[in-house]
Amino acid sequence: MSDYKRLISGNKRELLNFKGNLMSTATGKTVKSIMVTSAMNGEGKTTAALSLAYTLAVNAKDNVYLADGSWNAPKLDKVFNFGEVPGISDYFRDDIDLNGIVRQTQTANLSVIPFGKKTSNSMEILRPAVLKEKIDELKTRCDYLIFDSASIMGSADMAVLSTFFDGVILVIECEKTKWQVVDLAKGKLESAGANILGVVLNKRKFYIPRWLYG
Ligand SMILES: Nc1ncnc2c1ncn2[C@@H]1O[C@H](COP(=O)(O)OP(=O)(O)OP(=O)(O)O)[C@@H](O)[C@H]1O
Ligand SMILES: [Mg+2]
Repeated sequence: MSDYKRLISGNKRELLNFKGNLMSTATGKTVKSIMVTSAMNGEGKTTAALSLAYTLAVNAKDNVYLADGSWNAPKLDKVFNFGEVPGISDYFRDDIDLNGIVRQTQTANLSVIPFGKKTSNSMEILRPAVLKEKIDELKTRCDYLIFDSASIMGSADMAVLSTFFDGVILVIECEKTKWQVVDLAKGKLESAGANILGVVLNKRKFYIPRWLYG
């Protein structure tokens, strides 16, 4: 079994009906691009984003792009053994062709865009209008764009970035992250104007749709 399949084997079953849940929370609006974030670091964003992308690719047979936008701790290049290749940071920064950063995986319909080159300049200095345009361009290439991001409390511009996606999933590590902190992160997302689709209560593996959470 490859690394990434081992990583998600624990919560694949829970995600089987994810597309149905996703559509039912979308209230008529098509949700094509989803940011996966959390209040704090290490709550399980990457694992959840990977599981979601894999499940959509395998069960719904949609063309799925999974992008590594967690510039504090990019990880997908290692999970998929890509080595040092250009990725989304290069695409955001420079005028490079999308074909050079999208990598097909062993799983049909699942492509991964690794983080790419890390520089001392973080993504936070990029102009929001440019980021939005580039994310919109990516969206035209696939059925679903899943964006594994950095945490809300750990980075200043995550909340702004979240508004460039059709929806946001908040991963919460059960019995670890305090509810006040989750509330603060949720508040930051909401005041920026993000469309929070629901939460993943991680390390417990429940998906709670918005109508239940709200
Ligand atoms: N459902 C789960 N059950 C058990 N362990 C999990 C689960 N989800 C994630 N983990 C473990 O928790 C750790 C952190 O997971 P992950 O890298 O997905 O978090 P993250 O939020 O992306 O972290 P970062 O903020 O550093 O990007 C990893 O060791 C991962 O294997
Ligand atoms: Mg991560």
